[in-house]
Formats: sequence, structure tokens, C-alpha cells
Amino acid sequence: MKRFIVILCAVLLCGHAAVVKQSGRSFPKDFLFGTATASYQIEGAYNEDGKGENIWDRLTHQVPSPIKDQSSGDIAADSYHKVERDVEMMRELGLDAYRFSLSWSRILPTGFSNQINPAGVDYYNRLINEMLKYNIQPLVTLYHWDLPQPLQDLGGFASPLFGQWFEDYARVVYTNFGDRVKFFITFNEPREICNEGYGGTGFAPVVNATGIGEYLCAKHLVTAHAKAYHLYNNEFRASQGGKVGITISVNWFEAETDSEDDKLAAIWFRQGSWGIFSEPIFGLEGGFPKELAERIAEKSAQQGFPRSRLPEFTDEEREYIRGTSDFFGINHYFNARVSATTYPVNPAVPSLNDDVGVDLIFESKRAESTSGPVVKLSNVMLLLKELYGDWDFYITENGMSSAPGVDDTARGLYYKAALENCLDAIDDGIKLKGYMAWSLMDNFEWMQGYTSRFGLYAVDFEDPNRPRTPKHSAFVYKRIIKDRFIDHAYVPDASVSVMTIDEGH
Ligand SMILES: *[C@@H]1O[C@H](CO)[C@@H](O)[C@H](O)[C@H]1NC(C)=O
Repeated sequence: MKRFIVILCAVLLCGHAAVVKQSGRSFPKDFLFGTATASYQIEGAYNEDGKGENIWDRLTHQVPSPIKDQSSGDIAADSYHKVERDVEMMRELGLDAYRFSLSWSRILPTGFSNQINPAGVDYYNRLINEMLKYNIQPLVTLYHWDLPQPLQDLGGFASPLFGQWFEDYARVVYTNFGDRVKFFITFNEPREICNEGYGGTGFAPVVNATGIGEYLCAKHLVTAHAKAYHLYNNEFRASQGGKVGITISVNWFEAETDSEDDKLAAIWFRQGSWGIFSEPIFGLEGGFPKELAERIAEKSAQQGFPRSRLPEFTDEEREYIRGTSDFFGINHYFNARVSATTYPVNPAVPSLNDDVGVDLIFESKRAESTSGPVVKLSNVMLLLKELYGDWDFYITENGMSSAPGVDDTARGLYYKAALENCLDAIDDGIKLKGYMAWSLMDNFEWMQGYTSRFGLYAVDFEDPNRPRTPKHSAFVYKRIIKDRFIDHAYVPDASVSVMTIDEGH
């Protein structure tokens, strides 16, 4: 009898192993699995311990509130007071890395580097040190949208002095954290900062200088990025040995039809959405995309402007900015189609939309097939490689939103599909080094307030203690990280809702 059981088990185990082998795929050993957050979205403590006011404090405190649910990040997920719990979640998930951003105004309350706030530096030191205790690598974003208000009052990204202010801040960051942080991202999502914040009304500071603000911002942002990169090269790289790069939101835009007009329209749209930021840094010649620059110059002349609304780079500036990144950080959230025929519909003139002259067709219907979510991350990376060469890529954000609550089966499926798509890219020879899921926990989703939840962990924003609870998707992601393997057959046990920390984490 005993022998029979042993044989039976052996047969079962053997069969199980065979099934797993057939229906799953493995990740490279050194692939970095992580999650991402941003300071204003999670920290709270908006006026504690010497922190200065930033542009999101200012915007969310406006009356009437422009935020969908009239909320703010005043408390958010209260991460300023929850270093241990936040790192505990990372350990539960078994993360290799965690990407977070520094609040500029928590470190430099006025925005200027003559006055450093020790409590702000201390908070990030405690977070970094707690992570390092458990071998979780910090990926640090210097700027994730929360500009000190005093710098905004001086023009923010529209000021040609912006690069100096950012370089000074970067020096404080490298000096204080660069002994332990080896991966810096200067800016998160230039498109959202410039096109939405200065050329539109999508994000703070809601300048809405359409057709002008986004272009000033674009030039000053890539210049500031290059200054921070050169600063690291010249003064810190030799002793600290880390990497500095930038993260651009690269969503997937393709032609609505096979017509040449639609194909061209898709290229125009990409140029306006991300080419304008990627080309100066990653392009072979540097500077803004040539055709786009010519079109804006032409339109500007027609509109009676004495010079192009898109500022020029001198040859020297072009060379200074070109090639200033150690990797290409990609944030990716959606696919859409572009048609040559759908714009303009009452366009603001001038505007970026009018300049590129095309519009988007969101494919909500096409976004899901019967076989699950369609994620086009590998398309994005293949295109970037074709345009800019063989960079190290990091997915620095990817995810989806859902209604509040822990039952998020769709998110689990999304992450499986996205990671499978990452493996497709690796199989195609893309040097993809890591993947940061957005987000570790529910947080303040900008203009959407708390109506849109992206977390692997749910946060109860009604409870003063802001308790965090793992969602279904957290178990899915944990399993993939643990095995470094996507098991196609795996379905998490719905009765298990308690996370434990595995050995070695
Ligand atoms: C933004 O500017 C455009 C063009 O000037 C204008 O039509 C629109 O109403 C403005 N939006 C807001 C919210 O001010």
C-alpha cells in the first residue's frame, strides 16, 4: 500500500511538472520585478515637518475644486507615516525593486537648494534603508509632477531658468541618496507635464497656453534632463556608479485604416505625443522631430507669429542633449487608433492638436479580445528600437484602473497578459531589463481623485489608519515573481486573502 502511494504521487508530480512546462514561460534570472508609486499620490503629510507647498497642493485646494471627487493628496495613503508597512508589502510581493518619487518641496521647501529640509531627507533615507535591508532596489524618480509652488510662480517649466533649478535640486538628491540609490529617473512623463499641464488643462498647473506652453515646457524639460545627466556624469558617476535616464509615456498609436493618409496621421500623432520628447534625447540627430518643427514654424507664420511657437535648439544645445540617458523608461497604458479625417472639431488655435492635425479613436471595444486584454508593449519596444537603436528598456509603469475593492480579477489577467507581452519582446531580442507595475497600492489619481484605483493593494481611504489589503491581482503578481514564470493554468485561491512573507524576503 505504501509503495503504491509513493508511485502514485510520483506519477502525479511528474504529470504536474510536465503540464507546467508546456503551459508557461520563464523570465531571465536578472529581470527586475517591481512596483511604482509617486510622492504626491501616496505620501500625504502635505504640510508636515517643513514641507513646502507644491502645484498639486495649490490645485487641489482651489475652490471650487477641479478634482472629480473634490479630494486631495493631503493625507492620501499616508505613506509618509508608513515606511515599515509599505516595505512589508514589497516583501510580501517578493519585489526586486520599487520605484518611487521624491517630493521636491519636501526636500527643498522653497524649491531652491539654499535651504534643505532635514526631515524630508530623513523620510527618504528611512524608506531607502528599510528597502535595502531586504535587498529591494530603489529606483528613484526626481520629478513626478509636484513642482514647488514658488518655482511655478516664477514660470515653472516655461522659464528658461528651469534647468538651473532642476540641476541644483538634482545635486542635492545625488549627494544625499546616491551612495545607495543607483537608478535615477529625472522626469516622469514629459507629455503629461507639458502637453497637459502647460498646453492644456489635464494636470497641474493647468496653464492652458495651448500651442505655446507645451513647446516652451518641452525645450526646458529636455534641457533640464540633460543638465541633471551631465551633472551626474561629471561629479557623481565615478564614485557612485549608477544610472540616470528618463521615463516617457509611450502609448501605442496605429493607423485606423491602411490608407497612406492614416499611416501618416499616426506618425504625426506619435510625434506630438512622445516624439517631441524622445527625439531630442534618443534621436540620432537630436533636436525636435524635423517635420513637426517645420510644420509648426509654417503654421506659426500663417498665424502671424514673428517666430515659430516651437523654440529652436542651437547646434550646441542639440549636441548637449542628444544621447543623455543610460536607459529608456517606458510608461504604457493604452492602445488607440489614429485617423487623418477626425480633426479638427472646433479646435483651439493655436494648439498641438491643430499643429499635428489628427485625432485619436480610442478602441475600448478592441482593447479586449476573447482571449484576454490586448497589451501592445512589445510593439512599442520594437518601434522604439527601430527608431532609436538598441537601448536598455525598463517598463517603469504599466497597469489598469478598476473600481474600489479587492476583487480585481481583470487586473490579474491584465498583468499576466502584459508580462507575457514583455516576454514576446525579450524573445524578439529587446533588451528589456525590468517591469514596474503601477501601482503598489491605491492612491490619489490626480484629476480623478480616489474614483480610479490602480493598486495591487487596496487602501481604505475612509479609515484614518489607511489600512492596506492585498487584492486578487497581488497574489497573481506574487506568484509570477516567486517562480519567475507565468503559469498559464494558475488561478489564485479566492479563499486565501492573507499575504505572508516568503523566506529570504
Ligand atoms: C483652454 O484654452 C482653450 C483655448 O484658448 C479654451 O477654448 C478653453 O476653454 C480653455 N479651457 C479652460 C478650462 O480654461
